Amino acid sequence: MRKTVNLVPSLTGELTIPGDKSVTHRALLLNAIGRGKAKVTNASCGEDIAATLDCLRLLGVNITQKPDEFLITGAGLHGLKEPSTILSASQSGTTMRLMSGLLAGQDFMTVLTGDRGLLSRPMDRVIEPLREMGATILGRKNDTLAPLAIRGGHLHGVDYKTKVASAQVKSCILLAGLYADSQTTVNEPAYSRDHTELMMAAMGVKVGVNGHSISITPPKELTCVDINVPGDFSSAAFWMAAAVIHPNAKITLRNVGVNQTRTGFLDVLEKMGAKVRLENKRMAGAEPVADIIVESSNLRGVEIGADIIPRLIDEAPSLALVAAFASGMTVIRDAGELRLKESDRISTTVEELSKLGAKVSEEGTSTIIIEGGARMHGGKCTSHGDHRLAMTLAAAGVAIKGPVKIDGAESVDKSYPTFWKDLAKLSAASRV
Ligand code: S3P
Repeated sequence: MRKTVNLVPSLTGELTIPGDKSVTHRALLLNAIGRGKAKVTNASCGEDIAATLDCLRLLGVNITQKPDEFLITGAGLHGLKEPSTILSASQSGTTMRLMSGLLAGQDFMTVLTGDRGLLSRPMDRVIEPLREMGATILGRKNDTLAPLAIRGGHLHGVDYKTKVASAQVKSCILLAGLYADSQTTVNEPAYSRDHTELMMAAMGVKVGVNGHSISITPPKELTCVDINVPGDFSSAAFWMAAAVIHPNAKITLRNVGVNQTRTGFLDVLEKMGAKVRLENKRMAGAEPVADIIVESSNLRGVEIGADIIPRLIDEAPSLALVAAFASGMTVIRDAGELRLKESDRISTTVEELSKLGAKVSEEGTSTIIIEGGARMHGGKCTSHGDHRLAMTLAAAGVAIKGPVKIDGAESVDKSYPTFWKDLAKLSAASRV
């Protein structure tokens, strides 16, 4: 599907941001093995969540669904059933990696596959720790890629040091750790999103946090909890990017999750001089939420690296776009993980923003350099099947003299199925 995005003369109005994908995955997975019932409201309804839902149903979990609400009857920690067929994570890396941790704890056999793109993303990062815990787990290409065959059960606690700061890997190990015979600790090189540990704690698991080290004690059971999912910061980021680069913008983004392990993009925007502020800060269960007000801004370039990358990993394409409008140079270092996402996001971001006149290049394996102040213009782009790229290009489209044509626009369905509707809504509000 192709979408054509045109400059909006003034970008004003407000949007309520749909539920967070990461929190929704965890709300489904953890309540599925809890005791009792749980209602998950304002849930993310993208394709990735549908994949987690399908897997859990095949494992015997009873989940009913209204448009953005799930009612889960917890099967209990040991209540999942061996599925009679293979499970598919579709295109969802989070489903694949978190589910493999959960399955490693089960005393039965499962095969976990996914769609083509996911089958080329690295899985050795979860196979290695799960094997160390005692699971039998095999993968294609010498145990590096899915499909994965898993026979779990009888796990031991581990003290595991991850090579990369990845919430998917950390969560995988912690999920398996629920089934281990002793404490499990994950040590990360930097902070990654902490939704799993927050939710486990809310469900009664003893969780210890010491800097970048997270420990859990295997519980006898987890108690189901209702979750009102905060709006997805990563979805809000596209609108934030559009507003700061637009010459005449002021928008309000309502009900956005502002967990600090997610808001590196906000910190960098502030460092760049962006006019952005949080209002109405409150808690949604264990997660902080706020309304974000963001305006047209005069921006300056920045240099960022390893310590902050995991806190803005999904916002890097938007950051590259914003940097193209700043004065001076922006350098995004230590971002090699971007090559392992739905597309090689270093190459695809450079390729697509260049088509629109941005001066952006890659250096070595993990650096993006953006020279600010380029005059960006319309062009014909592709999403490379990557939702975050499609939405970054759309954010460019509303702010530059286009039009920006985006092939593969349907990829937004992965995380933000109402994105094009919200774009139309904001554009209409801006005309009045
Ligand atoms: C996610 C973690 C991140 C992120 C992904 C969602 C999660 O991946 O890119 O969109 O929900 O745990 P990594 O853990 O691989 O960095």
